[in-house]
Amino acid sequence: MAVDRSEVVGIAVLGAGRIGANHAEIVARRVPGAALRAVADPVPGAADRLAGELGAPTASTDIQETLRRDDVDAVVISAPARSHTDLVVAAAEAGKHVFVEKPMAVTLEDADRAIAAARAAGVTLQVGFNRRFAPGFAAARRAVDEGRIGTPQLLRSLTRDPGPWGGDPSRVPPWTVFLETLIHDFDTLCFLNPGAAPVRVHAMADALIRPEARDDGFLDTAVVTIAFDNGALATAEANFSALYGYDVRGEVFGSGGMITAGTAASSDMTLYDARGITVDTARRDTDLLREAYIGEFTAFVSSVRDSTPALVGGSDARVALSIALAAIESVRSGATVTVADLDSDGVR
Ligand SMILES: NC(=O)c1ccc[n+]([C@@H]2O[C@H](COP(=O)([O-])OP(=O)(O)OC[C@H]3O[C@@H](n4cnc5c(N)ncnc54)[C@H](O)[C@@H]3O)[C@@H](O)[C@H]2O)c1
Repeated sequence: MAVDRSEVVGIAVLGAGRIGANHAEIVARRVPGAALRAVADPVPGAADRLAGELGAPTASTDIQETLRRDDVDAVVISAPARSHTDLVVAAAEAGKHVFVEKPMAVTLEDADRAIAAARAAGVTLQVGFNRRFAPGFAAARRAVDEGRIGTPQLLRSLTRDPGPWGGDPSRVPPWTVFLETLIHDFDTLCFLNPGAAPVRVHAMADALIRPEARDDGFLDTAVVTIAFDNGALATAEANFSALYGYDVRGEVFGSGGMITAGTAASSDMTLYDARGITVDTARRDTDLLREAYIGEFTAFVSSVRDSTPALVGGSDARVALSIALAAIESVRSGATVTVADLDSDGVR
């Protein structure tokens, strides 16, 4: 399992969709010590196209065959959410180090299964909470660690995806706003409140962008409040359609001050003209958080080569998932949910 420090880490990307293409490009071109050796995707032609664009030597529709390759030391799992746990387990059992996109699992039982498989195989397991690697969020955490704002008392995290949202609600899996969008915010709140555990969760959610899909269970807007065991109170909010661009921000208010991180501005250029003051915004997560994506893969490859623990691992993914499942249960019941009361499927 150990990768010789003098050799590059051979990586296979499993899932050649939108984010898989981003990750494959970063692995192939931006991460020292990494080589893109294979792309796999069950849809015929998808892996061929991406591997061809990036000069990866192997493309396949067969995931198991890719996992058996000797030139592959590690995998990047960028397949749809509900396939993640089985892919983590299969990769770990094949002796491959694992980077898995969020969510690592959609039940606590599966989260435990993924963590146990990686532990049993002795492989690195990193989860795609890229916000931790964004320079502003990383600096915010350092400032919290240095005690510069004293004890955290109030936290905020928000995700507003770029609009106009043009998706098809019937193709959005249930509870996506919690399991795939706000899960980033739940992790950010834990990251910025280190050592604290979430205790109680209350959530409200609605279909405000596509109200006609509300009765089918579609949700595009949500607010979640979380109480942590160190007394801090937090809110997370999300919306699928920010017309001004992709917007990701966080805030920690403490006994000694406040920290904010993140901006919707895509650069520090500000235009002053006859119409007023203007800044540009990013239209894609992969543009706004480009440095964060490069940072998470650089860290992953370092963990694999140095046999050091992942900077954000399976237990972090499990905590964020527990908040998401509590939020879902809160929307179902209308009540505040105690995280410890959830069963393995996330139901009280
Ligand atoms: N961290 C982030 O910023 C971020 C951003 C976007 C998406 N994501 C996550 O990444 C995952 C993929 O999202 P996406 O937008 O790229 O989806 P997508 O639908 O664009 O791509 C998914 C790809 O996986 C392939 N696939 C399906 N089953 C597979 C399997 N068993 N093994 C391998 N490949 C399989 C599909 O054919 C498709 O090409 C989701 O979990 C999503 O939440 C994370």
